[in-house]
Amino acid sequence: MDNFDAVGVLFNDFSIFANLHFKREIETLSEVNFDGYEKHQDDHDKLLLKLEDLRKIALNIGHVELERERLYNELVSWVFEDVIKLDLVFKSFLMEHGYTYH
Ligand SMILES: [Fe+2]
Repeated sequence: MDNFDAVGVLFNDFSIFANLHFKREIETLSEVNFDGYEKHQDDHDKLLLKLEDLRKIALNIGHVELERERLYNELVSWVFEDVIKLDLVFKSFLMEHGYTYH
């Protein structure tokens, strides 16, 4: 497998993980009746669409260093968008309900 193939495989793995993680998160928010869980699901759907866009970019940039750096930055901000910005909204709510969330 060359690097080009590896990008597709890694994106697929990451996408599977993200889908499972988002599904589990929404199930938890639904269980505890968190008001914003439907909006959070919409936010996840948008993130998954963006991830698909990034996958297409990744498969087409080849070895252009500047583009690879831009993609890396986009992926980092993608993760921060969910983990830092979106998930902080319910973190204290879950803790109040006795959940520890990873
Ligand atoms: Fe989330």
